[in-house]
Amino acid sequence: MAKDYKVKDESLAAAGAKRIDWASSHMPVLRKIRERFAKEKPLKGVRIAACLHVTKETAVLMRTLKAGGAEVSLCGSNPLSTQDDVAAALAAEGISVYAWRGVNNEEYYWCLNQVLDKKPQITTDDGADLISLIHSKRQELIPGVIAGQEETTTGVIRLKSMAADGALKFPVIAVNDTPTKHFFDNVYGTGQSTMDGVIRATEELIAGKVFVIAGYGYCGRGLASRARGMGASVVIAEVDPVKAIEAHLDGFRVMKMDEAAKIGDIFVTATGDRDVLVKRHFELMKDGAVIANTGHFDVEINVGDLEKLAKSKKEVKPDVESYELKNGHKLYLLAQGRLVNLACANGHPSEVMDTSFGDQALVSEWLVTHAKSLKPKVYDVPKDIDDTVAKLKLEGIGVTIDELTPEQKKYLASWQHGT
Ligand code: ADE
Repeated sequence: MAKDYKVKDESLAAAGAKRIDWASSHMPVLRKIRERFAKEKPLKGVRIAACLHVTKETAVLMRTLKAGGAEVSLCGSNPLSTQDDVAAALAAEGISVYAWRGVNNEEYYWCLNQVLDKKPQITTDDGADLISLIHSKRQELIPGVIAGQEETTTGVIRLKSMAADGALKFPVIAVNDTPTKHFFDNVYGTGQSTMDGVIRATEELIAGKVFVIAGYGYCGRGLASRARGMGASVVIAEVDPVKAIEAHLDGFRVMKMDEAAKIGDIFVTATGDRDVLVKRHFELMKDGAVIANTGHFDVEINVGDLEKLAKSKKEVKPDVESYELKNGHKLYLLAQGRLVNLACANGHPSEVMDTSFGDQALVSEWLVTHAKSLKPKVYDVPKDIDDTVAKLKLEGIGVTIDELTPEQKKYLASWQHGT
Protein backbone atom coordinates (compact mmCIF):
# COMPACT_ATOMS: atom_id res chain seq x y z
CA MET A 1 0.00 0.00 0.00
CA ALA A 2 1.29 3.48 -0.81
CA LYS A 3 2.56 5.48 2.14
CA ASP A 4 0.02 7.96 3.44
CA TYR A 5 2.49 10.37 5.03
CA LYS A 6 5.58 12.41 4.28
CA VAL A 7 8.14 13.17 6.94
CA LYS A 8 11.85 14.02 6.92
CA ASP A 9 13.33 10.84 8.39
CA GLU A 10 11.37 7.73 9.38
CA SER A 11 14.30 6.39 11.41
CA LEU A 12 13.62 9.08 14.05
CA ALA A 13 10.35 7.38 15.06
CA ALA A 14 11.61 5.65 18.23
CA ALA A 15 13.15 8.86 19.57
CA GLY A 16 9.96 10.76 18.74
CA ALA A 17 7.77 8.17 20.48
CA LYS A 18 9.80 8.56 23.69
CA ARG A 19 9.32 12.33 23.64
CA ILE A 20 5.58 11.95 23.00
CA ASP A 21 5.33 9.61 25.99
CA TRP A 22 7.17 12.19 28.11
CA ALA A 23 4.70 14.88 27.04
CA SER A 24 1.80 12.53 27.70
CA SER A 25 2.98 11.92 31.25
CA HIS A 26 2.63 15.70 31.82
CA MET A 27 -0.82 15.97 30.24
CA PRO A 28 -3.34 14.54 32.71
CA VAL A 29 -6.36 16.20 31.09
CA LEU A 30 -5.71 14.57 27.74
CA ARG A 31 -4.93 11.28 29.47
CA LYS A 32 -8.34 11.22 31.18
CA ILE A 33 -10.12 12.23 27.97
CA ARG A 34 -8.22 9.58 26.02
CA GLU A 35 -9.21 6.84 28.46
CA ARG A 36 -12.89 7.77 28.11
CA PHE A 37 -12.64 8.21 24.33
CA ALA A 38 -11.07 4.76 24.00
CA LYS A 39 -14.16 3.24 25.65
CA GLU A 40 -16.90 5.41 24.16
CA LYS A 41 -15.49 6.11 20.66
CA PRO A 42 -17.41 9.42 20.30
CA LEU A 43 -15.48 10.32 17.14
CA LYS A 44 -15.92 6.99 15.37
CA GLY A 45 -15.28 7.48 11.65
CA VAL A 46 -15.11 11.29 11.88
CA ARG A 47 -12.49 12.75 9.54
CA ILE A 48 -10.48 15.42 11.36
CA ALA A 49 -7.82 17.46 9.55
CA ALA A 50 -5.39 19.35 11.76
CA CYS A 51 -2.95 22.07 10.77
CA LEU A 52 -0.97 22.51 13.99
CA HIS A 53 2.63 22.85 15.09
CA VAL A 54 3.83 19.26 14.90
CA THR A 55 5.20 18.93 18.42
CA LYS A 56 5.17 16.19 21.04
CA GLU A 57 2.11 17.84 22.61
CA THR A 58 0.21 17.91 19.33
CA ALA A 59 1.06 14.23 18.99
CA VAL A 60 -0.69 13.54 22.30
CA LEU A 61 -3.79 15.30 20.95
CA MET A 62 -3.60 13.21 17.77
CA ARG A 63 -3.40 10.00 19.84
CA THR A 64 -6.41 11.17 21.85
CA LEU A 65 -8.55 11.88 18.79
CA LYS A 66 -7.52 8.57 17.27
CA ALA A 67 -8.43 6.74 20.49
CA GLY A 68 -11.88 8.33 20.12
CA GLY A 69 -12.25 6.69 16.71
CA ALA A 70 -11.40 9.70 14.50
CA GLU A 71 -9.56 9.38 11.21
CA VAL A 72 -6.90 12.00 11.79
CA SER A 73 -4.59 13.72 9.33
CA LEU A 74 -2.04 16.35 10.28
CA CYS A 75 0.15 18.96 8.62
CA GLY A 76 2.41 21.62 10.16
CA SER A 77 1.20 25.16 10.74
CA ASN A 78 4.58 26.85 10.38
CA PRO A 79 7.60 26.07 8.18
CA LEU A 80 10.03 25.97 11.11
CA SER A 81 8.04 24.40 13.96
CA THR A 82 7.82 20.73 13.01
CA GLN A 83 9.71 18.35 15.30
CA ASP A 84 10.88 15.75 12.79
CA ASP A 85 11.20 12.91 15.31
CA VAL A 86 7.61 13.47 16.44
CA ALA A 87 6.35 13.52 12.85
CA ALA A 88 8.17 10.22 12.21
CA ALA A 89 6.65 8.64 15.32
CA LEU A 90 3.14 9.70 14.33
CA ALA A 91 3.62 8.27 10.84
CA ALA A 92 4.73 4.98 12.43
CA GLU A 93 1.56 5.01 14.56
CA GLY A 94 -0.58 5.20 11.42
CA ILE A 95 -1.42 8.90 11.40
CA SER A 96 -1.37 10.60 8.00
CA VAL A 97 1.18 13.27 8.78
CA TYR A 98 2.57 15.58 6.14
CA ALA A 99 5.20 17.76 7.79
CA TRP A 100 8.90 18.37 8.09
CA ARG A 101 10.99 21.24 9.43
CA GLY A 102 12.13 23.68 6.77
CA VAL A 103 9.36 23.26 4.19
CA ASN A 104 9.35 25.98 1.54
CA ASN A 105 6.16 27.81 0.66
CA GLU A 106 5.18 25.41 -2.11
CA GLU A 107 5.83 22.36 0.07
CA TYR A 108 3.91 23.96 2.94
CA TYR A 109 0.78 24.27 0.82
CA TRP A 110 1.33 20.84 -0.73
CA CYS A 111 1.16 19.39 2.80
CA LEU A 112 -2.04 21.29 3.57
CA ASN A 113 -3.60 20.01 0.36
CA GLN A 114 -2.67 16.42 1.21
CA VAL A 115 -4.57 16.76 4.45
CA LEU A 116 -7.52 18.41 2.71
CA ASP A 117 -7.62 15.57 0.18
CA LYS A 118 -8.97 13.45 3.06
CA LYS A 119 -12.20 15.49 2.81
CA PRO A 120 -12.31 16.55 6.48
CA GLN A 121 -15.54 16.97 8.39
CA ILE A 122 -13.80 18.95 11.15
CA THR A 123 -10.81 21.25 10.65
CA THR A 124 -8.47 22.16 13.48
CA ASP A 125 -6.28 25.17 12.73
CA ASP A 126 -3.48 27.16 14.32
CA GLY A 127 -3.53 30.33 12.23
CA ALA A 128 -6.60 29.56 10.04
CA ASP A 129 -4.59 28.31 7.06
CA LEU A 130 -6.77 25.23 6.40
CA ILE A 131 -9.94 27.30 6.56
CA SER A 132 -8.44 29.97 4.29
CA LEU A 133 -7.34 27.38 1.75
CA ILE A 134 -10.75 25.69 1.78
CA HIS A 135 -12.48 29.04 1.22
CA SER A 136 -10.10 30.13 -1.55
CA LYS A 137 -8.88 27.13 -3.56
CA ARG A 138 -10.72 24.09 -2.20
CA GLN A 139 -14.31 25.30 -2.11
CA GLU A 140 -15.59 21.90 -3.25
CA LEU A 141 -14.90 20.73 0.33
CA ILE A 142 -17.17 23.31 2.01
CA PRO A 143 -20.40 21.23 1.98
CA GLY A 144 -18.63 18.35 3.74
CA VAL A 145 -17.15 20.37 6.60
CA ILE A 146 -19.41 20.41 9.66
CA ALA A 147 -17.22 22.89 11.56
CA GLY A 148 -13.73 24.18 12.25
CA GLN A 149 -11.75 25.01 15.37
CA GLU A 150 -9.14 27.75 15.75
CA GLU A 151 -6.31 27.78 18.26
CA THR A 152 -4.71 31.25 17.94
CA THR A 153 -5.60 34.88 18.60
CA THR A 154 -4.41 35.79 15.09
CA GLY A 155 -6.58 33.09 13.51
CA VAL A 156 -9.68 34.09 15.47
CA ILE A 157 -9.26 37.73 14.36
CA ARG A 158 -8.95 36.57 10.74
CA LEU A 159 -12.05 34.36 11.02
CA LYS A 160 -14.14 37.05 12.69
CA SER A 161 -13.41 39.38 9.78
CA MET A 162 -14.40 36.61 7.35
CA ALA A 163 -17.66 36.14 9.28
CA ALA A 164 -18.31 39.92 9.33
CA ASP A 165 -17.87 40.03 5.54
CA GLY A 166 -20.26 37.08 5.12
CA ALA A 167 -17.36 35.09 3.65
CA LEU A 168 -17.25 32.32 6.26
CA LYS A 169 -19.11 29.25 5.01
CA PHE A 170 -19.16 26.96 8.05
CA PRO A 171 -19.18 27.43 11.83
CA VAL A 172 -15.89 27.78 13.69
CA ILE A 173 -15.23 27.43 17.39
CA ALA A 174 -12.75 29.98 18.76
CA VAL A 175 -10.83 27.65 21.06
CA ASN A 176 -8.28 30.42 21.63
CA ASP A 177 -10.86 32.60 23.35
CA THR A 178 -11.83 30.17 26.08
CA PRO A 179 -10.22 30.86 29.49
CA THR A 180 -8.58 27.44 29.88
CA LYS A 181 -6.76 28.18 26.61
CA HIS A 182 -5.61 31.79 26.60
CA PHE A 183 -5.21 32.32 30.37
CA PHE A 184 -2.59 29.56 30.48
CA ASP A 185 -1.23 28.83 27.00
CA ASN A 186 -0.89 32.45 25.83
CA VAL A 187 0.40 33.77 29.16
CA TYR A 188 2.53 31.06 30.79
CA GLY A 189 3.18 29.05 27.63
CA THR A 190 4.32 31.96 25.46
CA GLY A 191 6.13 33.54 28.40
CA GLN A 192 8.29 30.52 29.10
CA SER A 193 8.75 29.18 25.57
CA THR A 194 9.72 32.58 24.18
CA MET A 195 12.40 33.05 26.84
CA ASP A 196 13.49 29.49 26.11
CA GLY A 197 13.80 30.27 22.37
CA VAL A 198 15.72 33.50 22.90
CA ILE A 199 18.09 31.86 25.37
CA ARG A 200 18.70 28.70 23.33
CA ALA A 201 19.40 30.75 20.20
CA THR A 202 21.61 33.44 21.73
CA GLU A 203 22.84 31.86 25.01
CA GLU A 204 22.88 35.44 26.33
CA LEU A 205 22.41 36.51 29.93
CA ILE A 206 18.97 38.03 30.43
CA ALA A 207 19.69 39.76 33.75
CA GLY A 208 20.50 43.42 33.28
CA LYS A 209 19.32 43.55 29.68
CA VAL A 210 16.78 46.04 28.38
CA PHE A 211 14.11 43.66 27.05
CA VAL A 212 11.64 45.42 24.76
CA ILE A 213 8.28 43.75 24.13
CA ALA A 214 5.86 45.01 21.48
CA GLY A 215 2.32 44.18 22.55
CA TYR A 216 0.85 43.74 26.03
CA GLY A 217 -1.86 41.23 25.19
CA TYR A 218 -1.95 37.83 26.90
CA CYS A 219 1.28 36.72 25.18
CA GLY A 220 3.17 39.97 25.73
CA ARG A 221 2.29 40.16 29.42
CA GLY A 222 3.30 36.54 29.99
CA LEU A 223 6.64 37.24 28.40
CA ALA A 224 7.09 40.51 30.31
CA SER A 225 6.66 38.79 33.65
CA ARG A 226 9.13 35.99 32.78
CA ALA A 227 11.71 38.47 31.46
CA ARG A 228 11.40 40.54 34.64
CA GLY A 229 11.71 37.35 36.68
CA MET A 230 15.08 36.73 35.06
CA GLY A 231 16.32 40.19 35.93
CA ALA A 232 15.71 42.08 32.70
CA SER A 233 14.63 45.70 32.65
CA VAL A 234 11.41 45.37 30.66
CA VAL A 235 10.04 48.01 28.30
CA ILE A 236 6.60 47.73 26.70
CA ALA A 237 5.49 49.32 23.43
CA GLU A 238 1.70 49.35 22.97
CA VAL A 239 -0.90 50.98 20.73
CA ASP A 240 -3.93 50.22 22.95
CA PRO A 241 -4.28 52.91 25.66
CA VAL A 242 -5.89 50.55 28.20
CA LYS A 243 -3.23 47.90 27.81
CA ALA A 244 -0.57 50.61 28.03
CA ILE A 245 -1.96 51.68 31.42
CA GLU A 246 -2.04 48.05 32.57
CA ALA A 247 1.61 47.64 31.60
CA HIS A 248 2.47 50.87 33.44
CA LEU A 249 0.61 49.79 36.59
CA ASP A 250 2.25 46.36 36.39
CA GLY A 251 5.50 48.25 36.85
CA PHE A 252 6.92 48.26 33.32
CA ARG A 253 8.32 51.24 31.44
CA VAL A 254 5.97 52.08 28.55
CA MET A 255 7.16 54.12 25.58
CA LYS A 256 6.93 54.47 21.82
CA MET A 257 8.95 51.99 19.82
CA ASP A 258 10.93 54.93 18.37
CA GLU A 259 12.26 55.56 21.90
CA ALA A 260 12.58 51.90 22.89
CA ALA A 261 14.55 51.17 19.70
CA LYS A 262 17.43 53.33 21.00
CA ILE A 263 17.83 51.56 24.32
CA GLY A 264 16.81 47.93 23.79
CA ASP A 265 19.19 44.96 23.95
CA ILE A 266 16.57 42.35 23.05
CA PHE A 267 13.36 43.02 21.10
CA VAL A 268 10.44 40.61 20.86
CA THR A 269 7.26 41.34 18.92
CA ALA A 270 3.97 39.86 20.17
CA THR A 271 1.27 41.95 18.52
CA GLY A 272 -0.30 39.89 15.71
CA ASP A 273 0.12 42.84 13.34
CA ARG A 274 2.59 43.71 10.58
CA ASP A 275 5.49 46.17 10.46
CA VAL A 276 6.02 46.57 14.17
CA LEU A 277 9.78 46.85 13.66
CA VAL A 278 10.74 48.64 10.44
CA LYS A 279 13.64 50.54 8.86
CA ARG A 280 13.55 53.58 11.13
CA HIS A 281 13.70 51.35 14.21
CA PHE A 282 16.61 49.26 12.89
CA GLU A 283 18.52 52.46 12.17
CA LEU A 284 18.17 53.52 15.81
CA MET A 285 19.15 50.20 17.39
CA LYS A 286 22.35 49.61 19.34
CA ASP A 287 25.16 47.48 18.00
CA GLY A 288 24.46 43.85 19.02
CA ALA A 289 20.70 44.16 19.48
CA VAL A 290 18.78 40.88 19.22
CA ILE A 291 15.46 40.87 17.34
CA ALA A 292 12.82 38.15 17.53
CA ASN A 293 9.12 37.59 16.96
CA THR A 294 6.71 35.43 18.93
CA GLY A 295 3.53 36.34 17.04
CA HIS A 296 1.95 33.77 14.74
CA PHE A 297 2.99 35.16 11.34
CA ASP A 298 6.39 36.41 10.22
CA VAL A 299 5.06 39.87 9.38
CA GLU A 300 5.84 41.74 12.61
CA ILE A 301 9.51 42.36 11.84
CA ASN A 302 9.98 43.86 8.40
CA VAL A 303 12.83 41.59 7.31
CA GLY A 304 12.76 43.19 3.83
CA ASP A 305 13.75 46.52 5.39
CA LEU A 306 16.54 44.84 7.30
CA GLU A 307 17.81 43.20 4.10
CA LYS A 308 17.81 46.58 2.33
CA LEU A 309 19.64 48.32 5.16
CA ALA A 310 22.31 45.66 5.54
CA LYS A 311 25.61 45.73 3.71
CA SER A 312 26.16 42.07 4.63
CA LYS A 313 24.39 39.19 6.31
CA LYS A 314 25.62 35.88 7.67
CA GLU A 315 24.49 33.03 9.90
CA VAL A 316 26.51 33.26 13.11
CA LYS A 317 24.77 30.45 15.01
CA PRO A 318 21.91 28.13 14.10
CA ASP A 319 18.81 30.32 13.71
CA VAL A 320 20.80 33.53 14.36
CA GLU A 321 21.57 35.79 11.40
CA SER A 322 23.80 38.79 11.80
CA TYR A 323 22.89 41.82 9.65
CA GLU A 324 25.68 44.36 9.43
CA LEU A 325 24.18 47.77 8.69
CA LYS A 326 25.82 50.62 6.83
CA ASN A 327 26.31 52.41 10.18
CA GLY A 328 28.53 49.52 11.28
CA HIS A 329 26.04 48.10 13.80
CA LYS A 330 25.31 44.38 13.81
CA LEU A 331 21.72 43.33 14.51
CA TYR A 332 20.92 39.68 15.24
CA LEU A 333 17.68 38.32 13.82
CA LEU A 334 16.38 35.05 15.29
CA ALA A 335 14.64 32.39 13.17
CA GLN A 336 14.15 34.74 10.19
CA GLY A 337 11.48 36.57 12.19
CA ARG A 338 9.33 33.43 12.53
CA LEU A 339 7.94 32.47 15.91
CA VAL A 340 10.98 32.13 18.10
CA ASN A 341 9.39 29.87 20.72
CA LEU A 342 8.77 27.06 18.25
CA ALA A 343 11.62 27.66 15.83
CA CYS A 344 14.41 28.05 18.42
CA ALA A 345 12.82 26.01 21.23
CA ASN A 346 10.17 23.30 21.43
CA GLY A 347 7.10 25.48 21.99
CA HIS A 348 4.99 25.68 25.12
CA PRO A 349 5.47 23.15 27.90
CA SER A 350 3.21 20.10 27.86
CA GLU A 351 1.41 21.19 31.03
CA VAL A 352 -0.15 24.23 29.34
CA MET A 353 -0.85 22.52 26.04
CA ASP A 354 -2.77 19.98 28.16
CA THR A 355 -5.64 22.42 28.76
CA SER A 356 -5.58 23.94 25.23
CA PHE A 357 -5.69 20.51 23.63
CA GLY A 358 -8.15 19.22 26.24
CA ASP A 359 -10.47 21.94 24.90
CA GLN A 360 -9.78 20.88 21.31
CA ALA A 361 -10.55 17.23 22.06
CA LEU A 362 -13.81 17.97 23.89
CA VAL A 363 -14.91 20.52 21.28
CA SER A 364 -14.35 17.87 18.56
CA GLU A 365 -16.66 15.53 20.47
CA TRP A 366 -19.25 18.28 21.04
CA LEU A 367 -19.26 19.21 17.35
CA VAL A 368 -20.27 15.71 16.32
CA THR A 369 -23.64 16.19 18.01
CA HIS A 370 -24.06 19.99 17.89
CA ALA A 371 -22.54 21.26 14.63
CA LYS A 372 -25.84 20.80 12.75
CA SER A 373 -27.50 23.50 14.82
CA LEU A 374 -24.73 26.07 14.25
CA LYS A 375 -24.62 28.85 11.65
CA PRO A 376 -21.54 29.93 9.68
CA LYS A 377 -20.26 32.14 12.49
CA VAL A 378 -17.45 32.18 15.04
CA TYR A 379 -18.61 30.63 18.34
CA ASP A 380 -17.14 30.52 21.83
CA VAL A 381 -16.33 27.18 23.43
CA PRO A 382 -19.34 26.07 25.52
CA LYS A 383 -18.79 27.05 29.16
CA ASP A 384 -19.28 23.52 30.46
CA ILE A 385 -16.38 22.29 28.29
CA ASP A 386 -14.12 24.97 29.76
CA ASP A 387 -15.25 24.00 33.28
CA THR A 388 -14.71 20.31 32.60
CA VAL A 389 -11.16 20.96 31.36
CA ALA A 390 -10.40 23.10 34.43
CA LYS A 391 -11.76 20.40 36.78
CA LEU A 392 -9.80 17.66 35.04
CA LYS A 393 -6.66 19.79 35.33
CA LEU A 394 -7.16 20.42 39.04
CA GLU A 395 -7.72 16.70 39.56
CA GLY A 396 -4.59 15.97 37.53
CA ILE A 397 -2.43 18.28 39.62
CA GLY A 398 -4.02 17.17 42.90
CA VAL A 399 -5.58 20.50 43.88
CA THR A 400 -8.98 20.66 45.55
CA ILE A 401 -11.05 23.84 45.86
CA ASP A 402 -14.02 25.07 47.86
CA GLU A 403 -17.64 24.91 46.65
CA LEU A 404 -20.36 27.50 47.05
CA THR A 405 -22.95 26.71 49.73
CA PRO A 406 -26.64 26.78 48.61
CA GLU A 407 -27.02 30.11 50.50
CA GLN A 408 -24.06 31.60 48.66
CA LYS A 409 -25.46 30.49 45.30
CA LYS A 410 -28.82 32.01 46.16
CA TYR A 411 -27.17 35.27 47.23
CA LEU A 412 -25.23 35.51 43.97
CA ALA A 413 -28.37 34.87 41.94
CA SER A 414 -30.47 37.49 43.75
CA TRP A 415 -30.67 41.20 43.05
CA GLN A 416 -32.77 42.32 46.04
CA HIS A 417 -29.90 42.63 48.54
CA GLY A 418 -28.60 46.16 48.97
CA THR A 419 -26.58 48.03 51.52
N1 ADE B 1 1.96 26.30 20.22
C1 ADE B 1 2.84 26.74 21.11
N2 ADE B 1 3.48 25.72 21.71
C2 ADE B 1 2.99 24.59 21.18
C3 ADE B 1 3.25 23.22 21.41
N3 ADE B 1 4.14 22.81 22.31
N4 ADE B 1 2.56 22.34 20.68
C4 ADE B 1 1.65 22.75 19.77
N5 ADE B 1 1.35 24.02 19.52
C5 ADE B 1 2.02 24.94 20.23
